[in-house]
Amino acid sequence: MSQTPIQRATQLREQLERAAEAYYNRDEQLIPDAEYDALLRELEALEAEHPQLKAEDSISGRIGGRASGRFAEVTHALPMLSLGNAFSEGEVADFVRRISERLDLAECDLAFSAEPKLDGLAISLRYEDGVFVQGATRGDGSTGEDVTANLRTIGDIPQQLTGSGWPALLEVRGEVYMSRADFEACNAQARASGGKVLANPRNAAAGTLRQLDARVVAQRRLSFFAYATGVVEGGQLPDTHAGTLAVLQRWGFPVSDLCQVVHGLDGLLGYYQRIGQARDRLAFDIDGVVYKLDDKAGQQAMGFVARAPRWAIAHKFPAQEQTTTVEDIEIQIGRTGAATPVARLAPVQVAGVVVTNATLHNADQIARLDVRIGDSVIVRRAGDVIPEVVSVRLELRPPATTPWLMPQACPVCGAELVREEGMAVWRCSGELSCPAQRKEAIAHFASRKAMDIDGLGEKFIEVLVDSGLVRSVADLYAIDRDTLLKLKLILDAADVEAYVAALQPHLLPLNSGQALAQLLALSAADDWRARALALPVQVAWADKKIATRWADNLVAAIDASRRTTLARLLFALGIEHVGEATAKTLAQWFGDLELIRQLPWPLFKQVPDIGGEVARSIGHFFDQSGNQAAIDALLAGGVSVTDAHPPSARLHAGLGLAPLLVACEIPGITQKRAEALAAVVADMAALVDAEPAQLLASGLPATVVAGLTQWLEQGDNAALLLRAAQAQARLAALLPEEDPSAAGPLDGQTVVLTGTLSRLGRETAKAWLEQFGAKVAGSVSKKTSFVIAGSEAGSKLAKAQELGVPVWDEEQLLAWLAQQGVVL
Ligand code: IVH
Repeated sequence: MSQTPIQRATQLREQLERAAEAYYNRDEQLIPDAEYDALLRELEALEAEHPQLKAEDSISGRIGGRASGRFAEVTHALPMLSLGNAFSEGEVADFVRRISERLDLAECDLAFSAEPKLDGLAISLRYEDGVFVQGATRGDGSTGEDVTANLRTIGDIPQQLTGSGWPALLEVRGEVYMSRADFEACNAQARASGGKVLANPRNAAAGTLRQLDARVVAQRRLSFFAYATGVVEGGQLPDTHAGTLAVLQRWGFPVSDLCQVVHGLDGLLGYYQRIGQARDRLAFDIDGVVYKLDDKAGQQAMGFVARAPRWAIAHKFPAQEQTTTVEDIEIQIGRTGAATPVARLAPVQVAGVVVTNATLHNADQIARLDVRIGDSVIVRRAGDVIPEVVSVRLELRPPATTPWLMPQACPVCGAELVREEGMAVWRCSGELSCPAQRKEAIAHFASRKAMDIDGLGEKFIEVLVDSGLVRSVADLYAIDRDTLLKLKLILDAADVEAYVAALQPHLLPLNSGQALAQLLALSAADDWRARALALPVQVAWADKKIATRWADNLVAAIDASRRTTLARLLFALGIEHVGEATAKTLAQWFGDLELIRQLPWPLFKQVPDIGGEVARSIGHFFDQSGNQAAIDALLAGGVSVTDAHPPSARLHAGLGLAPLLVACEIPGITQKRAEALAAVVADMAALVDAEPAQLLASGLPATVVAGLTQWLEQGDNAALLLRAAQAQARLAALLPEEDPSAAGPLDGQTVVLTGTLSRLGRETAKAWLEQFGAKVAGSVSKKTSFVIAGSEAGSKLAKAQELGVPVWDEEQLLAWLAQQGVVL
C-alpha cells in the first residue's frame, strides 16, 4: 500500500532528524550528503504542496544541529544562515534571473563573488578592539557552542588583528576545515594506534573542534578560511563582499585565493567548471562553489527566505560519497607484503567516476566498521585518494550475513599471512618469492622517482614476472628488444591463436613448425601469456610489419637508468619506510652505497631525521642476504652510482662510545648514563665483557646495570653492539676532517615554512634547509630569519609581512638550492 503524504512526511522527518542528530552531535554520518539533500528536497516539496503538513519545528526550516550541551551556549547576535542549493545549471539560471528581476539590472551586469564551498564547519569569531575574544559554532543558526579555547589552537585564526582600521566590534565568519594531507596523517595515526578513524575531513574537523580537551585540537591540525562577517560596530566595512574579503585578508584572516569576482550566468558557470576541474588537486575538500551577489546594497534589497539569503546560493558538485553494495572482499598484496583488504563493489558513480573497488585499509578497520559481504556501504572518493569504504548502512543489511575474517594464507603465493605484534597490518610472509610482492617491487624500482624506466608498464611487468624471465630487479637489465616485441604481441592478442597469427610473419622457418606446435599447446592454459613468453621461439622481425621504435626506446631507457644517483637507487630498492626524502637524506649523509649496505641499524640513527623505526628497517633490509645478492646483481648488471662522495663531516658528532650506546636504544640508557658508562670502559668490546662490578664503578644505579647486563645476554644484542662499534670505526676513518669554518650557509638562521610547496613538499624543503644549517621553526617571530611561503599561505605569511620578515616563494627557494648545487 502506498503511503499518504502525511505518512511520508513523517517518515522523511524521522529519517532526516536521525541523520542530523548523528551528524551534528556525534560527528557521524548515517547517509551520504547527496541522499540527505534529496530527502530534504522531497520533504520541502511535500510541505509546499500540502501546507497543512508543515509542522511547527520541521527540520526543513532549521539550520544545522542543536547544541550538544557539552559547551557553553553562545547566542548569535546576527543569525548564522545556511545557503540554498543549486544542483543544475537551470537552478543557477533561476537564481540569477530572480536577482536581475528584483533589482531591475541586466543579468550580465550582476557582479558576484564566486568562492569555493569548503567542506568543514561554520564558525563565528568575535574580535573586540582587534583582539579575539570568543568563537562559536553555528549550532542551529541562532545558538551555537562556545569553542573559543579550541579555536585558539588553530594557527590560521589571528589572536590579534594586524594592520589597522578594523571596527571596534567585528564578527568574522568562515569555515574550519582539515586539509586532505592532515586528514590522511590523522587517520594513518589512528589506524596505527587503534584510535578512532574518521570518515572524512569534514567529520574530522567537526569532531576535533568539539573535543573538550584543547590539547587534542592542537595536535590535529585544523585550518580556517574566512568568507563572511557578522555583527560590525564602531567602524565600517567596504560596500562590496569582495572588498570585505580583501580587508579581512589584510587584517590577518586567510581568505581562499580561489575567490573571484565574476559577472552574469556565464561567469558563474565558467567558474564552476574551472573549480570543478581543479577540485581533485586542491589541498582540501570542497563540495561545491558559492555565488554571492557582490554589492551589499543589492544583498539588502534581496533579503532572506526562511534559512538562507536570496542573494547567495551554493552550486554543488557531484557527491563524493555514494551508497553501493559490497560484492566481495579480496586481499591485495603490496610491495612490502602488506595485505590490504579491498571491497569489490557494485559499480557506482562517485564524483564523476565509476568506482568498482574501494580500500578497506586493514582487518581492524573492517572489524571496526563491521563490513560484510552483501552490505550496503557508503564509499567515498575525494581528490587523488583511493576510494574507500567509510561506513556500513546497517539498516540496509540483508539477513544471514556473517562477519568477515582475515584469510590465513596469501591469495597469491599461499604463504602464511602474519601480523607483527602491535601492528594493524597483516603481511604475506612469502617476501620476494611471492609474485605479487615481486611485481610491486619491480614496478616501484622502475617508477619515475626511482630508476625512471619510462615505458615499463604494469602489464609488461606482470607477464615478465609470471614468465620467470624477471625474477628480481636486476633481471630488468637483461631484457632485450626481442622479448619486448614478443611481449607486446602477447599483450595485444586475445588468445594464443591470435598471438600465433601475429607472430607468424616474423618466425624463422627453421624452427617455426615446432615453435608453433609448442605455442598452440598452450591454448587451454589460463597463464598462456607468461608461458608463451618463456618459450624460446626464434624470430627475425620483419620491420615493416611491426612497430619497433618504442622497443628500441625502452631498451635505451633501461640502459640509461643504469647510471643513477645514490638517492634514486636507495629509494628504488623499496626499503620499508624509506621514501624519497629519506633516501636523499641517506645519500647526503653517507654518500656511498658500499658504506651504507654494511652499516648496522644504530649507525643510521646518527642522522637527525632518522628515528629508530626507520633505522631498524634500513638495517634489516641490508641484513637480508637476498637483498645483498640483489644489489650485487644490479652492480653486475652495470648499474652504477654517479654521485658517490665521502660521508658528511657532520657525522663526527655521533662518533664515540656514548652516542653509539644511546643509538642502540638500550632500555634505561640515557645520554648521561651512556657517558658515565663510556668513562669506565676502554671500548665496546670491554663493555660487552665487563663484570657488573666494573660497570657499577660508573656510578649507575644497580638496577640499571642489572638491566644492561640482562639486555646484553638477550638475543644478538652483544653482537649488535660489537658490529656497530666496528662499523663506527670504519666510518670514522672515512670522515673528512671536521672544518669549523665549513659551517652551513644557513647556520644560525631560523626559517618558517608555510602554505603548500607544490614542487618540493614541506618535508623535503625542511630536510634541505636543515642540511644547510638552518633551524626550521613552526611559528613566525621577530627572530625568524625568513619565511618560505607556498600557495595558500595564510596567517604566518601575514605575520611575516607585518614584522617585516623577508619572504621567499617556492621558486626562490628552488633557485637558491640550485645555486648551492642541489639537483632535485
Ligand atoms: S556563506 C549567508 N561561503 O556552507 C551566507 N558558506 O551550506 C552564509 N560554506 O554554513 C554562508 N564555504 O558552513 C559561505 N565560501 C563560503 C562557504 C560557505 C562553505 C558552508 C558554511 C555554510 C554552509 C551552507
